[in-house]
Formats: sequence, C-alpha cells, structure tokens
Amino acid sequence: MSGFIPKDFIDDLLNRVDLVDLVRRFVPLKKQGASFVARCPFHDEKTPSFNVNPSKQLYYCFGCGASGNAISFLIHYQHLDFVEAVEDLAGSIGLVVPKEAGGKAAQSDQLTPLYALMAEVAAFYRQCLTRPEGAGARAYLERRGLGAEVAAEFELGYAPEAWQTLLERFDRALLAKAGLIVERDDHKAYDRFRNRLIFPIRDKRGRVIALGGRVLDDALPKYLNSPETPIFSKSREVYGLFEALKRVSRPEQLLVVEGYVDVIALAGAGVNCVVATLGTAITPQHIQHLFRQCHGLVFCFDGDAAGQKAAVRAMTTSMPLLQAGREVKFLTLPEGQDPDDYVRSDGVEAFQARLAAALPLSDFFFQTLTDGAEPGSVSVEQRARWSADGGKLLGQLPVSAFRALMFQRLTALCGVSDAARHISSQASGRARQAEAQGGKRSAARLVIALLLRDPALAEQIRAHTDWQQWHFPGAALLQQVMAEITTYRISSAAQLLEHFRDSEHWPTIQKLMAIPLTIPEEGMAAEFSDALSRLSESSRKQAVELLLEQARQRSLTESERLRLKELLASSRQ
Ligand code: UTP
Ligand code: MN
Repeated sequence: MSGFIPKDFIDDLLNRVDLVDLVRRFVPLKKQGASFVARCPFHDEKTPSFNVNPSKQLYYCFGCGASGNAISFLIHYQHLDFVEAVEDLAGSIGLVVPKEAGGKAAQSDQLTPLYALMAEVAAFYRQCLTRPEGAGARAYLERRGLGAEVAAEFELGYAPEAWQTLLERFDRALLAKAGLIVERDDHKAYDRFRNRLIFPIRDKRGRVIALGGRVLDDALPKYLNSPETPIFSKSREVYGLFEALKRVSRPEQLLVVEGYVDVIALAGAGVNCVVATLGTAITPQHIQHLFRQCHGLVFCFDGDAAGQKAAVRAMTTSMPLLQAGREVKFLTLPEGQDPDDYVRSDGVEAFQARLAAALPLSDFFFQTLTDGAEPGSVSVEQRARWSADGGKLLGQLPVSAFRALMFQRLTALCGVSDAARHISSQASGRARQAEAQGGKRSAARLVIALLLRDPALAEQIRAHTDWQQWHFPGAALLQQVMAEITTYRISSAAQLLEHFRDSEHWPTIQKLMAIPLTIPEEGMAAEFSDALSRLSESSRKQAVELLLEQARQRSLTESERLRLKELLASSRQ
C-alpha cells in the first residue's frame, strides 16, 4: 500500500507532524517527566498507562501494548486505512499527498464517476419506494415489521418492475461497469434489479458500493447482489458497518450475522453494532476489516448443522488473526431461527441475554474438538486424536498468552504432558520461529526492540565489525532493520516503523514494539550495549562450536581457520 505514496514523503511527513499535538486532538494528555500520559484510548482503564514520547514520536500503552507512530495512531483511533491516515495527517499540516502513477491514489480519480452513479441510483430507488409503484414494497416492509425509521437509516429502496428503468436514465457504459445492468450476447441490456426491495451496501465511509435486492414474494433467487466491480469486493465488505459506526463510533464489539434483514431487524429492535456478510462465508479480509473497528467479534449462527459448520469455519478462519487483545465469541440460535425470527418470537431481551452469554472461542474450540465428550469417557486413541487435531489448529494462533493457555488446556484435556511441545514442533516453521523469538526475552529480541525505538543505536552495532556474520534467530530481521536505517538515513523511530508496515516482518516488529521496556531513557544505550555484547558472545560461541564440529569431520579451509582464530581470540578478551 505504502508503495503508492513515495517513501520520502512519508519520512518527511513524520518529521513535520508532532505526535503529541495529534494525540492531544483526541485524548487529553498530561505531562509526566519527559513524556505525556493519558488514559489509553484503545482499551478501558481507570489509571493512565498510555504514554506518548515526544522525542521518539511514538506512543505506547503499558496496559494493552498498543504502540506506534502518528500514522498508526490515526489508523487505529480513527479506523482509517493507511492511505486515508496519510492523507489526513498531511492535510492537518497543509501538505498534499503526491500520487505515484498507477497507484491507488491515481486510480481513485477513475472511480469517482462509479461512486457518483451508485449514489444517484440508490437515491433514485429510494424515491421509487415512496412513489405509487413502491406500494407493494412498502407493504412488504410493514409485514416484516421493518419500520420507516430503520428503512430510512439503511436507505432502503425499491427497484421498479420495468426492464429499462435505469437504462432510460443513466449512462449504459457506466451502468455496466457498476454491475447494475445485465448485457446479453446480442448487445441488448436490461436492469439487474427489477421488482425488488433494494438494500444499498455502503463502505465504511458511507459511499454506496453495491446493492442487494430481495424479491417481495417466494420467487427465486430470493436475493440478488451486485457482482464484483472496481469498487466492490464481497469477500472484503460487510453490510451495515457504516450504519453501525454511525450509531456507536467506537464499538467494543461487532455482531456478525448472515442476513441483511437480520441487521435491520436487530437495529430496529435497538441492538447496535450488527453487520452481515454478503451471502458468502466469512473471509480473513472480513475479519481484518472488522478488527480494525473493534477488539471483539461475535459470530451468530443458526443452530442447525449448516450453521454449526459455518461457525466452525469462522473459528478456523479467525484463529490466525487473534492477536493479543482480540476476542471472538459465538452465539448460537435455536435450530431454524435467524436473529430476525428469534427477536420476533422471543423478544429482544432474550436475544440480548444470549448475546451477553455468547461462548468465547476458547470454549467453542474445545466443545467442537471433543463434541462435548468427557475425556474420562473416551479411549486413549480418541484423546491422541484430540491432541493431534487440536494442536494443529492451535498452531495457527499467533504467539500470545492466549495461545499458551489454549495449549495448556489441550494438554490437560488429553493428559499428554508434552503435548504442547510436541505439537508446536509440528506447527509451521514460521509459527515455531515466531515462538522462539517471542517466547523468551532474549538478547536478540532486546537488541532489535531497542534499535526500533532508537535508530541511533545502529552506531553501536556497526562498531562490532563482524555483526553481519552473527547467527541467531532474528538475524535476518536485524539486517533488514540496519539496511533501512543506513539506506534511508533514518534518525527517528517513528520513521523506521513506517518502513516496515507492509513488509513480511511487520507482525514481528509489532510484537517487538509491544514489549514493555521500563528502561529509562538515559539507561537505554547502556542496556543496548550490554544486550549487544551478550548477543555477540552467544553468536560467537555458536560459530566456534560449528567450526570445531566441522574441523572434526574435515580439514577447515584457510578462511575458516582464520575466522576460528579470530573468534577464539576475541572471546578470550
Ligand atoms: P437467508 O436465505 O438466510 O435469508 O439469506 P434471510 O436473511 O433470512 O432473508 P429473509 O429473512 O428471508 O429476507 C441470508 C443472506 O444470504 C444472502 C443474502 O445476503 C441474505 O441476506 N443470500 C441469500 C443471497 O445472496 N442470495 C440468496 O438467494 C439467498
Ligand atoms: Mn430471515
């Protein structure tokens, strides 16, 4: 993403804005020593543990581990994507974001007519709902108990019965691009939505990007949706998010249901923060998109077999995305009932009660794994299967306390004392590597974590002339960080962070930034130097061992002999 905005511009931008000023626009800050503190805007707390460091231009919360620079702050606080955050930040100091040709920013100019058309068409259909030809649709809404207020909030409309309603009013080529007409092989065309109740699908910013349409009777297909277009991807977008955020701008959790009508019926009954997927299974993009708005997701499914299957699928899809602080729960409704049916039959209080009692993913996971069976009542073979299957799934979780606790529970359940270790050795190499890096507070971790907070420390690393030959988990990352610092002459931590946002190292970098470092500013250089010595020492030991081992098997080459001599000499110092 950042590829579309020149790196220099972002470096420059971060140099010019002041994080303290930015944060202060949203959160009251109090000066404390060299930094500023506040109650954390990213989690609930009574005493302030959110810190803004003016010299590093970074924020950090000792409570929830949230951390980042000015761009990260806007992304998380204002629910923006990267480009939006950069645009806002630039705008706040009167800069215009330069656009690189072919990038997302340049493309957006071509999309403007599409957005405009969608808005006009949605407004047109809305009008049709109020006209005589919309009588049937209005009666339908009434039958389903969808009041005028929610109908207006969700900007429902009606697509008239005729074949050319839109074609008579709007540009054909544009309509085709927006997926609003169907073009036949013989070049004839007709409106896609006819005699249907229209549900405009809006993006997070409120722009209409697609339409959904429901028949007013039992005809099939019951629902029609816009096809994929340059402004609409159903595997990313959800229905109702704009409306939900309008009601509650910083929701604690979002409830994910399956139908448009469910969203609207719940909103009508006073249940806020409900969204729906668009007739597809939930995807990782949906989950990422939703987790940008809040820390908790509740998936709601029908109690029948298909609903349970979908719930399990939602669980496995979300597991790799469960970074610390994020939570997923499951709400199961009686068989054959969707939220709309349920609220009508049992009332909204009953629904709220079920929502409050939604099953945490941890419980849902073990319930699904064991199918409710007690470990004492099953065979050893069965428990071995649980251990293997469960371990494979848990291996998908990112490194966190939650992951460790889940493995612990699996171990207790199966009675396999080394289940966790055994299973994690089966888990993907990347997860294992991450665990090794994330598990202990090693010298390597400390070195990189400190360097990320103060790029000037790179000087100390360069002073170790052989640092590029050190072998340790994380060596590749250190080299990459050093390369960025050197190539771009990075002097500030806020800038350095930005250079990694889209890289493969980003998840690791975020973990390293989330390590609480209580080292006072003055002590950082000394702490770094100490960690660096430990790292260099252990790398050397490892290299010596390796060379000695090789020497036992074959004679060393000249350069290997020299390196060994050098290593032995330096570690004796
Ligand atoms: P359901 O068939 O479960 O219907 O579709 P529903 O939401 O209960 O609808 P009502 O109450 O009869 O109006 C759930 C969702 O699946 C998608 C739509 O997004 C719908 O909201 N769907 C369903 C389709 O895309 N096409 C269809 O033909 C049916
Ligand atoms: Mn329904």
